[in-house]
Amino acid sequence: MHLLEVQSSVRLEKSVSRALSHAFIKAWREFHPQAQHQLRDVGSHPPDHPTEQWVLANYTLPEERSPAMTATLEFSEQLIEELLWADRLLLGVPMYNFSVPSTFKVYLDNIVRVHRTFTFDSSNHTFTGLATEKKALVITASAGNFVPGTALGKLNFCETYVRSILGFIGIEDVTVVAVPNQFMPDERQQRIESAQEKLMDLAANW
Ligand SMILES: Cc1cc2nc3c(=O)[nH]c(=O)nc-3n(C[C@H](O)[C@H](O)[C@H](O)COP(=O)(O)O)c2cc1C
Repeated sequence: MHLLEVQSSVRLEKSVSRALSHAFIKAWREFHPQAQHQLRDVGSHPPDHPTEQWVLANYTLPEERSPAMTATLEFSEQLIEELLWADRLLLGVPMYNFSVPSTFKVYLDNIVRVHRTFTFDSSNHTFTGLATEKKALVITASAGNFVPGTALGKLNFCETYVRSILGFIGIEDVTVVAVPNQFMPDERQQRIESAQEKLMDLAANW
C-alpha cells in the first residue's frame, strides 16, 4: 500500500489539518505496517505556477518535445508519478477564501494534465480520468461552519471543488472530514476532537 500525503496549509506549527492528518496517519499505519508513505508539502514548498513555456510543452506530444520543454515539465512529471504511485491520498486542505489554498491550486495545475491524469475524446467531448483505483481522504479546517443548505453552505467551494477535481482525474472514492468553527473559542476544541474520533474510526477501514 502506498500513501501520498499532500499538505497545503501555510501554517506548520498551528495547523489543524496537519495535526489531524498526522494523528490519522499514525493510527492508519498500525493497520498497514508495510505501507510506504510519501509527504508532498505544497504548503511550505508550493510548486511553480505554469508559464507560457510550460503550457506549450504540455500541449506538445512527448516525442516532439525539445530537451528544454522536457525540462520545463520535469517537476510536474515528478508530481504526477508520485500521484499515480499512490493507492491512498491524504489531502490536508484548509478553506481559504471559500475555496482551496493557492498552494493546493498550483499543485492541481501541475498534476491535472491531458494524457497524464485525464484524456479528452474530441469525437464526443468526454473526459476520462486516468488516476483510478485510489481512495482520497480530505481533511479540511475552516473558521466558519458551512452547513449544507444554509446561506454559508453555498459558499463552500472548497469541498465541492476538491471532490469535483478528484472525480475529474478518476478518483471517485473521496471521504471529507471537515473541522469547522475554528474561530469560535467555545467550539473549536470540541470540533477538533469530534473530527479526530471520526478519523480514528476510519483508520481501520481505509
Ligand atoms: C488566507 C486565509 C483565508 C481564509 N479564508 C477562510 C474562509 O473563507 N472561510 C473560513 O471559514 N475560514 C477561512 N480561513 C480560516 C482557516 O480556514 C482556518 O484558520 C483553518 O483552521 C486553517 O487551516 P489550518 O489550521 O490547517 O492551517 C482563512 C485563513 C487564511 C489564512
